[in-house]
Formats: sequence, structure tokens, C-alpha cells
Amino acid sequence: MRAAVQPVPDHVPQELVSSFNLFTGPGMEPAPMGDPHAAIETLLAGPPVFFAPGNTRNGEGTWVVVRAEDQRRVLQDGETFSSNRNIFASALGESWPMIPLEIDPPEHSKWRSLLNPLLSPRRVIGLEPIVRERAISLIEAMKSRGTDADVMKDFCLPFAVSIFLQFLGIGSERLEEFVGWATDLLHGTPAQRTEAARTVVSFLDELRDLRRQEPTDDFMSFVTQARIEGESLSDMEVRGMSVLLFIAGLDTVAAALGFDFYYLAQHADQQELLRTDPKRIQLAAEEMLRAFPSVTPVRRATRDVELQGITIRKGDLVACPSMTANRDPAEFPDAGKIVLNREDNRHVAFAYGPHRCLGSHLARREIVIGLEEFLARIPTFRIKPGTAPITHGGFVFGVDNLQLDWSEQEKAQ
Ligand code: HEM
Repeated sequence: MRAAVQPVPDHVPQELVSSFNLFTGPGMEPAPMGDPHAAIETLLAGPPVFFAPGNTRNGEGTWVVVRAEDQRRVLQDGETFSSNRNIFASALGESWPMIPLEIDPPEHSKWRSLLNPLLSPRRVIGLEPIVRERAISLIEAMKSRGTDADVMKDFCLPFAVSIFLQFLGIGSERLEEFVGWATDLLHGTPAQRTEAARTVVSFLDELRDLRRQEPTDDFMSFVTQARIEGESLSDMEVRGMSVLLFIAGLDTVAAALGFDFYYLAQHADQQELLRTDPKRIQLAAEEMLRAFPSVTPVRRATRDVELQGITIRKGDLVACPSMTANRDPAEFPDAGKIVLNREDNRHVAFAYGPHRCLGSHLARREIVIGLEEFLARIPTFRIKPGTAPITHGGFVFGVDNLQLDWSEQEKAQ
């Protein structure tokens, strides 16, 4: 259940109010065989900036900035467009920022300097063997379940969660429990979401307290020992960081893999190309990140500001869907076409500006390794006859379920 739609503020000109919204607009509600990316692409034919009533979970409307160039302007200017919103905490009736996402520049940069080395390309190379091992064991278990398996539930989500557990320094024996929390947090009813949020926070708080006393060599030990300008981090700061790392890499990685499998299931020829020549997977993964990105960054204006001749007032929310920027014809030749060997692909699935995704190196390796191991183990697959994948819009687009069928190929082998 979503909150009631709040009235459109008086300063918004009526002609700029649209019926589109990321949650309930045409093509956005959970739908069998839905294609929220195709639905949102239609915005590129309309005004570059418009107002979408009820475009947030609490019913508040937002401006929507459609074009890549305008989005860059918003996302690069953290002084005018603030990301300090305490989203996760406010759902619990609390007030603390997720760090560094909800901290504005210039303070933001000290947090990035602390965290960047943890997810640097070199650190990610170190994590690769475990990422591959987790991918293989989940895919093999899914395969043994046959075509009753659901790729989202049996592979994409547990894969993303298991890498986070590894990062936290927790063994995969707690995987099922964490997948349950993640599922409730991301897809549950409002009550389930709040309950799961509380459980995750208290788990991470306990782990923080434990690692403060007995540090090891994991992420939590690192942040509890870290100092910024000579000061240790407070309990709330450690919480703000660990909660963000938990939620930032779950739905996003699962969604990327889910949309990739959904697309490939409908394009057996492309699957074959990647299966027979896995060197192509890296470029293909980038093109699928361009075509099926999941995140819409949102900011709040800290002063009145003009964009495309429209006045955005101090306090207004501004949404920048990566999905329209990534299909903007001013940025990409044949923007609406999926070209798996596209070169020079400067897409914005990981955003722009100071808050550009901290986990992009890890995310990319998870996606490429996930695709490599899946294509190496599962023969040509299609959407299981009689089933229809369910997709959804929102601030993070995703795939709810995806059943695939590879039995014909298995019989032929
Ligand atoms: C395909 C997977 C992913 C996508 C599409 C994605 C996308 C994004 C986007 C668009 C932002 C900017 C949000 C904003 O400006 O409001 C962001 C920020 C962030 N992401 Fe990711 N992300 C992914 C995976 C990950 C993973 C695996 C991690 C961690 C291990 C991660 C950690 C973060 C963090 C910490 C931030 C905040 C950075 C900052 O504020 O400076 N992400 N991500």
C-alpha cells in the first residue's frame, strides 16, 4: 500500500503536471511481461522537465529531469541539489544519514576518501575468487532444481547478498536468513519492510560492537578502527555506512542480472554468441547496464533554480532516471537499440558527480562473473512456457520473478 498522492504545489504550472509516475505510471506497476524501460523511454518524446505527482513512497511529487545533459547538471551540483534525506532512518522514525549517499559536498569527500580504497579495482580483484565460487555453487544448486527454479530467488538475489556477507566478514551459513531480510526489506508490505529494517540495523549494530572489541580484517573492523581528522567514527556513522553498503548492492545487482537474463531468454541468438565467445560478455554487460539500468537518483533543491526555463523552488524534489539518460539520442547513436558489442559506452547506470556509485567495480565483476558462469552451465534457455516474468518500476527498477526453461537443450545434449 502506498501513501496518498500529495497535492501539486501551487508554484508548479499546470501544463507541466504529468500523469506519469515511476511507481504507478503506465508500464511501471508490477506487471507480467512488463517492460518498464520501454515505458519510461517514451518520456524522451515529451518535455525535458516535468512534474510527476505522487512520485515517492510517501506520496510527494517530484520534478523529473529527462535528458542526460540536464541530469548531469543536477547530479554534479550537490550544493544546489542535496541528497541529505535520511530515507532509511525516517522509515524507522529515526534521523541519521546513510553515508556517504546522504551527505552533501564538501563533507562528502572525506567519507569517499575513507571508503574508496575498500572497493577499489585492486580490492575487487582480491574478491573475485569468492564471487566466482558463490556464483558457481548457486547456479549448480539452481540447475539441480530443474526448471521449477526461479532465477531471481535462486540465483540473482542470494548471489548479491552472499557477496555482501563476504564483504562484512560473515560466512555464507547465514545466507538464507539474510536473503529473507533482504526480500522483506525490498519487496515486503510496509510492516514487513519496517520490521526487516529494524532487524538489519540491530544485526549490524551488534556486529559493530563486537568488532570494536575484537577486530578482524573485515569491513566492519576497518570502519570501527578508522579515524577521520583524528576522530574515531561514532556508532551512528558506522551504522549509516554499513546499512548503505547492505542495501546499495542488493536490488541493484539482482536487477541487473535479472533484466539481462530476461533479455537473453528472448534472444537465443545473442545467448549463443556470448556462450561460444565469452570474451564478448564484458561489452555485452555494459550495453545491458545502459539499456536496463535500475536506479533513479533523487535530490532536494536547496534554493530556487532554473532548469530548461522552468523554476524549481527551494525544497522541491528532483528525480533523474538513469533509464532516460541512457537512451537519450543526444548521447548514443541508435540509443533505443541494444547492440551487445557497443563500444565507447559512457552510460550512467552508476550515476554522475560526487555520489557516483562507490561499488561500481564490484558490481561490474559480479554481473560479468554471474553471466559467465550462468552461460557456461545452463544451456540455451527461454522463458518457461506458461509463466510470465514480473517486473516493476519505482526508484529501483527490478524483476520480481523469472522462470526459465532449458529442458529442450538438455534433452538434445
Ligand atoms: C548494478 C549494480 C549497481 C547499480 C546500478 C548502482 C547504482 C548506483 C547509483 C545510480 C548511485 C548514485 C545514487 C545517487 O546519486 O543518489 C549509487 C551509489 C552508491 N552505490 Fe551503487 N550501484 C550498484 C551496485 C553497488 C554495489 C555492489 C555497492 C557496494 C558494494 C554499491 C554501493 C554504492 C554506494 C556506497 C553508493 C553511494 C556513493 C556516494 O554517495 O558517494 N553499489 N549506486
